[in-house]
Amino acid sequence: MTDTNRRWLLAARPHGMVKDTDFKLVHEPAPEPGPGEFLVRVTHLSFDPTQRGWITADTYLPAVKIGDVVRAGGVGQVVKSNHPGFKVGQLVQGGFGWQDYFVSSGMTEFMPVSILHPGVTPEQALGVFGITGLTAYFGLTDVGKPVAGDTVLVSGAAGATGSVVIQLAKALGCRVIGIAGGPDKCGWVTSVAGADACIDYKSENVARRIKELAPKGVNVVFENVGGEILEAALMNLAQRARVVLCGGISSYNEVEPTGIRPYMQLTVTRSRMEGFIILDYAARYAEGVMALSKLIAEGKLKVADDVQTGFENVPATLRRLFEGKNLGKQLLKITDPPLPLA
Ligand SMILES: NC(=O)c1ccc[n+]([C@@H]2O[C@H](COP(=O)([O-])OP(=O)(O)OC[C@H]3O[C@@H](n4cnc5c(N)ncnc54)[C@H](OP(=O)(O)O)[C@@H]3O)[C@@H](O)[C@H]2O)c1
Repeated sequence: MTDTNRRWLLAARPHGMVKDTDFKLVHEPAPEPGPGEFLVRVTHLSFDPTQRGWITADTYLPAVKIGDVVRAGGVGQVVKSNHPGFKVGQLVQGGFGWQDYFVSSGMTEFMPVSILHPGVTPEQALGVFGITGLTAYFGLTDVGKPVAGDTVLVSGAAGATGSVVIQLAKALGCRVIGIAGGPDKCGWVTSVAGADACIDYKSENVARRIKELAPKGVNVVFENVGGEILEAALMNLAQRARVVLCGGISSYNEVEPTGIRPYMQLTVTRSRMEGFIILDYAARYAEGVMALSKLIAEGKLKVADDVQTGFENVPATLRRLFEGKNLGKQLLKITDPPLPLA
């Protein structure tokens, strides 16, 4: 009797918000590893706003093809192995996609498979020590370059990336203003993540509130949202500010993205706006993990994970990011590891 491999395939290029019908659930026999290969039982999936781009068009990675499994990072357990470097029972991380099983020779479509260090949980591997934590670390320190005393403005402040940025900036001695949707998230941003203030963009005038909270302007903007929130930030720059263009989630479901109106504020304030892609920092990931682990050990970094369950809920879990339902890192747990850990 062969195990079943449930797979969510891309059925159509989404138009606007992703719908369940943009994907198709198929059941296939689990694959068998060949010589030099190993079989991973996927246990946890990571959900990232960039997946919306991957299923739309070529970006910094080629678009997922119609009929292919949807690309996603994940953690899983090696359940069969013909590979000398991967033992049965080990927990591993890689780009396994929206499916139960993945056969690998050590590489996935977009990242190598790495063995999890003992003591690192799947949630940490995909969150604070994964793409979002590392994005926060390198985006803030390498692109934003804050110094003690700077005022740092962070949008998407209750999310996986933004919440880590807040705490990194606080640890560097900065004053931090978060922007998030709703009173509950704003409460968490100040009371748990430790921002000095939080603007609720759903009920407050963001540009006016930034002006009240930072009358001399903000020195660093860590931008996760874009659109009108970025415009409000640009209207409140200090001289020689650094705007880190990490993401622009407000436009990811838009058919016709809108432009940035007050861009000349960059000129007036002699400021710099710079984008980056975390994959370019791959050679320095260990440095980021060390810095983030140190802050956790010192009690200066608190992490929130939002773990959904049920393989049938995979498309709905992606939607949660765009509906603002997640607090912290959005994950989905498919199963516990089926074998004893090696
Ligand atoms: N450059 C890179 O290499 C890189 C790497 C990773 C992530 N990113 C970017 O970083 C950003 C955050 O990613 P993440 O994985 O940490 O996600 P996240 O912040 O944990 O989740 C997304 C959050 O975005 C907010 N949001 C969604 N739609 C919005 C809208 N229309 N207007 C305002 N806010 C909206 C929601 O929070 P509210 O409830 O507060 O609205 C939601 O919880 C994204 O833009 C992503 O593309 C970039």
